[in-house]
Amino acid sequence: MQKITRFGVSLPLSLLSRFDRLISGKGYANRSEAIRDIMRDHMVEHEWEKGGEVVGIVTIVFEHHASSVKDRVLNLQHESQSIVLSSMHLHLDRHTCLEVIVLRGKVCEVKAFSEKVIATCGVKHGRLVMTTTGKELK
Ligand code: NI
Repeated sequence: MQKITRFGVSLPLSLLSRFDRLISGKGYANRSEAIRDIMRDHMVEHEWEKGGEVVGIVTIVFEHHASSVKDRVLNLQHESQSIVLSSMHLHLDRHTCLEVIVLRGKVCEVKAFSEKVIATCGVKHGRLVMTTTGKELK
């Protein structure tokens, strides 16, 4: 169990009122939970800036019939197998596929891999979401 501490913050009342409305709309039960999340998010972004190890989730949507997309994306995963943790293929409908690839590696490796996958000819939409390994947040 971590030791919890309290601290005071001075800020304009109008800023606090706006903050309270914002976090209430997002479903936070109290300011402490919201501030903890904001601090952690800031620290995770700092990890990315330092170029440390991250977890990345790449999603791509492509036409099932564009069969070369599957092969090219599979080849990329084999070439970068040291950072590919897992992948999942879903058939969204008769024609459309969704592939989710989970990565763990240095920021530059994760970004370079995802850019290649997303730029693959036939990919209709791709997105990289980065998060933390959690090591720095303990
Ligand atoms: Ni499919």
